[in-house]
Amino acid sequence: PQPKKIINDPFALVSEEMKSMVKSIGALIGSGHPTLNRVASYYFEAKGKNVRPLIVLLVSKSLAEIPIEERTRIAINSSDINDQEEFKGVSSAMSFAGADPEHSITPLRILYGINPKMILNPLSKPFEQSVDVKRLDEENGILPRQRRLAEITEIIHTSSLLHDDVIDIADSRRGRPSGNIAFTNKMSILAGDFLLARASVALSRLRNNEVTELMSTAIANLVEGEFMQLKNTVLQPHLNEIDNAGETKRIPEPTGRVPLKVPEYTLQQPVSISHEENVSAAFEYYLHKTYLKTASLMSKSARSAAVLSGCNDELIDHCYNFGRNLGLCFQIVDDMLDYTTNEEILGKPAGADLKLGLATAPVLYAWQIKPEIGPLIARKFSEPGDIEIARAAVVEADGVSKTKKLAEKYRDAALEHLRCLPESDSRSALEFLANAVVTRSK
Ligand code: FPP
Ligand code: MG
Ligand code: MG
Repeated sequence: PQPKKIINDPFALVSEEMKSMVKSIGALIGSGHPTLNRVASYYFEAKGKNVRPLIVLLVSKSLAEIPIEERTRIAINSSDINDQEEFKGVSSAMSFAGADPEHSITPLRILYGINPKMILNPLSKPFEQSVDVKRLDEENGILPRQRRLAEITEIIHTSSLLHDDVIDIADSRRGRPSGNIAFTNKMSILAGDFLLARASVALSRLRNNEVTELMSTAIANLVEGEFMQLKNTVLQPHLNEIDNAGETKRIPEPTGRVPLKVPEYTLQQPVSISHEENVSAAFEYYLHKTYLKTASLMSKSARSAAVLSGCNDELIDHCYNFGRNLGLCFQIVDDMLDYTTNEEILGKPAGADLKLGLATAPVLYAWQIKPEIGPLIARKFSEPGDIEIARAAVVEADGVSKTKKLAEKYRDAALEHLRCLPESDSRSALEFLANAVVTRSK
C-alpha cells in the first residue's frame, strides 16, 4: 500500500497565491514618486508572517469545498420572473453574490452563490433543468476577488505597522531598522497613509458594499484600539463605557440633516469598586483594545472572504468568529513574547511594553495577586525601578504561563468555529495555523 502522504507545509496549498500576492501588491502600491515607492514597499521587502492573507486565502479555499447549494446565501423567492423589474431583482442578487451582471453574457453560467434551483431564466421560462453552475473564474478554489482581498488586508496591516512604529518609537521591524528610523517619522506616516489609500482603491474595485463597509470599519477599529492603548485607563476602566459586543457602533447613513455621530467612549463618574472588580474590568478593557487593534482586521477580513464566496449567514458568522478568536489569541501571544524572548529572535524590540507604559496580560495577572502593582500601572511604570518590580511580579505571579493559557482558550474557541466548516486540507491548514500562532517563537 502507498504510504500516506504527509503534508510537510500545510500552507503549500496556497503557495502559488502567496507568491503572486507579492507581485500584485507591488503593482497596487506603485507611485510616481521614487522615495515614496521606497518607503511604501520597505516592509514588504522583508519576510513577515503573512498571517492575515493566509487566513483570507485558506478560509476562501475551505468554503469552496462546500457545494454551492449548501453554501448559498440568497434564494430568489419568485417562481416567474418575466418583467424587467423582476429581472433587475435577479441582477442585484447576482451582484450581491459577487457576480458581475454587466459582463454576464450568459448570466446563469457565471452565477455562483445562488441556489441554482432558484435561478430563473430572465426570459420568463422557469429554469427547470439542473445546471452545472460553475464558478468559471475560480482557481484552486479561490476567486480572484478573494486573492485581492488577501492583498488589501496585508496592505492595511502594513500601513498600520508604519504608523505603529512611529507611535511606539520602535527601532527595528522584521530584522531591519524600522521605517521611522530608516526614513523618518514624517515619511513613515505619509507612506502609511498612501498604502491605506491604495488599499481603499482596490477595495472599492471589488464592487461589494458589504465588504467595503467591513474593511473600512476594520481600519477605524485599528485607530480606536490605538486610542484605547494611549489612554491610561487600566486602573479606572469603569471610566470608559466599553462596548462589549466588540464592534464599533455603525455610523448612520447620511441623510443630509442628522449630524454624523462619531462613536465615543463616554466618561462616567468614578465609583469605588473592589480590587477583583477593578482587575476584571481592566482585563475587559485590555481584551476589547486587543480586539480592536488586532482581531478586528483578522475577523472582518475572514468575514469578507466568506461574503465574497456567497455563503449563508451561519457560515459567515463562523468564519468571523474564527478570525476574532484567532486574532485575540495572536495578540495575547504577541504580548507574551514581549516578556519571554529577545530582539534577535523577534526582529523587533522585546520588553518594549513596560517601557511604553503598557499593561498587557502578564502584568495584569501580576496585579491580580499583587495589588501593590496597581500604582505602578497607574503611573505607567514611569518611576525608576518600576519596570524591574513589575517584571519580578510577573515572574512571581506566573503571569507568562497564565497569559499562555488565556491565548490557548481563544485558540480553542477559534478551532471550534473552524469545525463548522467541512473537513478538508485547507481546514486542516487553518487548524495548523491556529496552533502555530500559540507555539510560535516570533
Ligand atoms: C502592532 O501592535 C500594531 C497594531 C496591531 C495596530 C496599529 C494601528 C495603528 C497605529 C492605527 C492607525 C493605523 C492605520 C494606518 C490604520 P504592537 O505595537 O503591540 O506590536 P509590535 O510589537 O509588532 O509593534
Ligand atoms: Mg503598538
Ligand atoms: Mg509596536
